[in-house]
Amino acid sequence: MKYQPLNNELFILNRKNFSNRLKPCSIAIFHSNDEFPRNGDQNFIFKQNPDFFYLSGIDQEQSILLIFPDCPNPLYKEVLFLRQTSEHIAIWEGHKYTKEEARAASGIDSICWLSEYETILHTIINYAENVYINTNENDRYSHTVPYRDIRMLETLRVKYPLHNYERSALILRDLRVVKSDVEIEATKKACEITRDGFIRVLKFVKPGVAEYEIEAEITHEFLRQRATGHAYSPILASGKNANCLHYNDNNQVCHDGDVILFDFAAEYANYNADMSRTIPVNGRYTKRQRDVYNAVLRVMRQATQMLVAGTIWNEYHDEVGKIMTGELIGLGLLNKHDVDKQDPKMPLYKKYFMHGTSHHLGLDVHDFASRYKPFEVGNILTCEPGIYIPEEGFAVRIENDILITKNGNVDLMADIPVEADHIEEIMNS
Ligand code: GLY
Ligand code: MN
Ligand code: MN
Repeated sequence: MKYQPLNNELFILNRKNFSNRLKPCSIAIFHSNDEFPRNGDQNFIFKQNPDFFYLSGIDQEQSILLIFPDCPNPLYKEVLFLRQTSEHIAIWEGHKYTKEEARAASGIDSICWLSEYETILHTIINYAENVYINTNENDRYSHTVPYRDIRMLETLRVKYPLHNYERSALILRDLRVVKSDVEIEATKKACEITRDGFIRVLKFVKPGVAEYEIEAEITHEFLRQRATGHAYSPILASGKNANCLHYNDNNQVCHDGDVILFDFAAEYANYNADMSRTIPVNGRYTKRQRDVYNAVLRVMRQATQMLVAGTIWNEYHDEVGKIMTGELIGLGLLNKHDVDKQDPKMPLYKKYFMHGTSHHLGLDVHDFASRYKPFEVGNILTCEPGIYIPEEGFAVRIENDILITKNGNVDLMADIPVEADHIEEIMNS
């Protein structure tokens, strides 16, 4: 890992909170993610399962975590199984956790090698009534590729058919969404690295640079600051490309007079930032670009004020929709008379602003959370309004990451330039 290890108190606390929510006499089993084949004999770079990381701090493939608070053998109340490293693995693949290192990273005392898993599980599972399995219940996820936890569930059901199987995700959905201090610090670090990447490209962009050259600058800044890399495929969309929401070809040249929509951010210690900015290629917004930009910024500012404990998703989105509608009328994109007659189920603003304003942020960029629970202290949400105008060949999105606190909220990207004047000033300095 490139990042500095996180304080293991995070993982100790997470396991404690998780254990407290289990039914009596329950064992929970968590698997690390699969390694995904790329081609030939190559794998994609390993990415840890977010729940596995949340509960263990272990960032390594082929690992298993057992949590069994009522286990009659105290040795196995928490056990971590790891790939046994060897001289051969060290030479060919590099460093893997030793037992001492895994103990330090996770705060778990009982560290065993993977070869012992079946035997140890068998000696304790029959003392449990419930077996908690972790499936991916992110409601944006569509299940097409079986993953370790789900494959192991099939095996367990055959071997232990009379246990009661339960869902860990129901517990994790409530826990993961409330961030602790260590998580907030990791997210702030990801935001800081993202800021530096942005300021670097503000000084780099000029007419004639290609989107991929900007991407290279950002990647350089991220890696030199120990980010794992990009939090998601970066979007560097100049001119009309910005009207494709998930554009990430990043292969066009940026032209004088256009604006570029950036949506990029760093991942640090598995925690993600998520930022969007829209800047003028030649360092000066046109009057129209600036008007649209300021309209989006006003919506972002007003929406941010609603990101406080107790806010309800649907009401928030409806409210932002009304603010956005007013701005679109002001820009001449919507007509007040048409708006007055609109079908409330299909509001007209969606023609120019077709995505949600916010999502939770954390170990996943679109973090695991309930859509129906009011916002809580400790949530980190994005705020990302945009206006997309294909007929004018450009789009503007601005996105900051907001932490909800007991006194309101804190903008974790408050120090990233966002005012049009400030952006122009840096670009022309
Ligand atoms: N970068 C992904 C998003 O803004 O949701
Ligand atoms: Mn986002
Ligand atoms: Mn984004």
